[in-house]
Amino acid sequence: MCGIVGYVGPQAAVDVVVGGLRRLEYRGYDSAGVAIVSDGRIELAKKAGKIANLDKLLADHPLPTDGLGIGHTRWATHGAPNDSNAHPHLSRGGRVALVHNGIVENFVELRDELAADGITMVSETDTEVVAQLLGQVVEAGTELADAMRAVCRRLTGAFTLVAVDSHNPELVVAARRNSPLVVGVGDGENFLASDVAAFIEHTREAIELGQNQVVELRSDSVRVTTFDGAPAEVRPYHVDWDLSAAEKDGFDWFMRKEIYEQPKAVADTLLGRHDSKGALTLDEIRISEAELRQIDKIVVIACGTSFYAGLVAKYAIEHWTRIPCEVELASEFRYRDPIVGPSTLVVTISQSGETADTLMAIRHAREQRAKVLAICNTNGSTIPRESDAVIYTHAGPEVGVASTKGFLTQLVACYLLGLYLAQVRGTKFGDEIKATMAELETIPAAIQSLLDNIQPVLDLAAEFADQPSVLFLGRHVGYPVALEGALKLKELAYIHAEGFAAGELKHGPIALIEDQLPVFVVVPPKGRDMLHEKVVSNIQEIRARGARTVVLAEEDDHEVDAVADVLIRLPKVSTLLQPLVATVPLQVFACELASRKGHDVDQPRNLAKSVTVE
Ligand code: F6R
Repeated sequence: MCGIVGYVGPQAAVDVVVGGLRRLEYRGYDSAGVAIVSDGRIELAKKAGKIANLDKLLADHPLPTDGLGIGHTRWATHGAPNDSNAHPHLSRGGRVALVHNGIVENFVELRDELAADGITMVSETDTEVVAQLLGQVVEAGTELADAMRAVCRRLTGAFTLVAVDSHNPELVVAARRNSPLVVGVGDGENFLASDVAAFIEHTREAIELGQNQVVELRSDSVRVTTFDGAPAEVRPYHVDWDLSAAEKDGFDWFMRKEIYEQPKAVADTLLGRHDSKGALTLDEIRISEAELRQIDKIVVIACGTSFYAGLVAKYAIEHWTRIPCEVELASEFRYRDPIVGPSTLVVTISQSGETADTLMAIRHAREQRAKVLAICNTNGSTIPRESDAVIYTHAGPEVGVASTKGFLTQLVACYLLGLYLAQVRGTKFGDEIKATMAELETIPAAIQSLLDNIQPVLDLAAEFADQPSVLFLGRHVGYPVALEGALKLKELAYIHAEGFAAGELKHGPIALIEDQLPVFVVVPPKGRDMLHEKVVSNIQEIRARGARTVVLAEEDDHEVDAVADVLIRLPKVSTLLQPLVATVPLQVFACELASRKGHDVDQPRNLAKSVTVE
């Protein structure tokens, strides 16, 4: 949500900044703009719509190619997505330009105060209020960085701000509270961005900023302080992926590329997780074994697709550890006075590590003295930074807004956590843990074989492109898979889609079944329990009422042959691990169907990759 770029150095700032904005497009946005400080003036270009509109404006009215620059892609919160609400915003007289990600909660009060001083706004944004305030302080003779610190002390809410002053052609100043911001350290040049993707083609050396920090960026220095001006501690790190990981590599969509990267992403996430004797070693877990033995409840908190990974985690963790495990939407958690305390382990799952709802939930949990463990894909992001422990997934950058490899690697991390807890608490024998690890290690090849034989799913997407509604059913861990299949179709193809627990069908949803309605059903492996049998009889019930059944079942399951209108074969894996393979055809189906409908698969309408406001 909102992308920010800043640059100071010898290159043409306008090119570096717009290039960076392009790499941040995936975050979701509806307008874009850039400001350049050159020759004692600020020159501005901003436009509603995609960056192509900004490119056109810049082609007609080029900006100077010298100087320093800041840029922004805006995802509208306060005010419509039009040219005047687009960032950067100028102070009265145009001395200061500012971009912002987040929400300034006390902007009405500040706007009234400015109005009393005769300053009226030209946009409907909370951002312009900050630009005007900053301009006022700078005009009164305060240097830009001091002015930024003074203004930040007056703001409430979440904000990342980046500003330039036309009288100071060597300095970009930024501030960070909650919304993401990283520094890219170059050789004689420096960068600022919401995400390293914006500057990865220039440098892989980054600095993670903490909360309530102000950074002063010059071409040869980076200075970080608190909002009070005291020097602040920062964490430099090396980005371990390169430009090619942020490009499409010949695929039509990032999402499709990321689906095909899943065998590697799963393998990378499993890498180095056990010692030579086969015992699990999760070295990013900074909670002692003694503390883990004291835990009497686990609460998993997440949003969207990550929440569905949490639903799968519940089945595995409870089965392997016998610790009660609740799963809760982060946006609901802290508003219901949840019962958590020092013996609760709160597990948060977030691909981006920046989701505001999840972040607020973990802060609440920590206030109640719960231990927080983050499962996250983004090194240097806020959620792992504020957690007691972290298991990083190693999916590499996920650019498509709809999560795919992010989800599968989250599942892997959840399984690892469950097995690790079982090892520490002795609820599973060592050889059982080893056997499950060995099975997990076969999953990359299983996903690859699914992808090698995916044509029938692509054909199905062509056949169903005009369907107004699709249902998904599953049971046990197949239920979250059904929810995920439905979410993917909603967000990408804009089709009405619902996921149901198959056993719930007769309690209401069966009324939706009508002639030729496509219903995908995830069938559990044929095990010793009755789960498989129950799902087969659910398929019979809907087929008898006219549904067109698309059945996902393991390769030698012939009991489903007679009830399936379309059969999608899954590699044989044990029940708990089945989501790792069953989800893949549903991702491909949604991606292909949306692509056939002519939708922007990587940036679906109204969605943002990183949801940094509550
Ligand atoms: C759906 C999707 C979203 C995210 C959700 C949480 O495809 O990507 O539902 O899963 O916004 O995001 P993270 O995992 O970054 O916290």
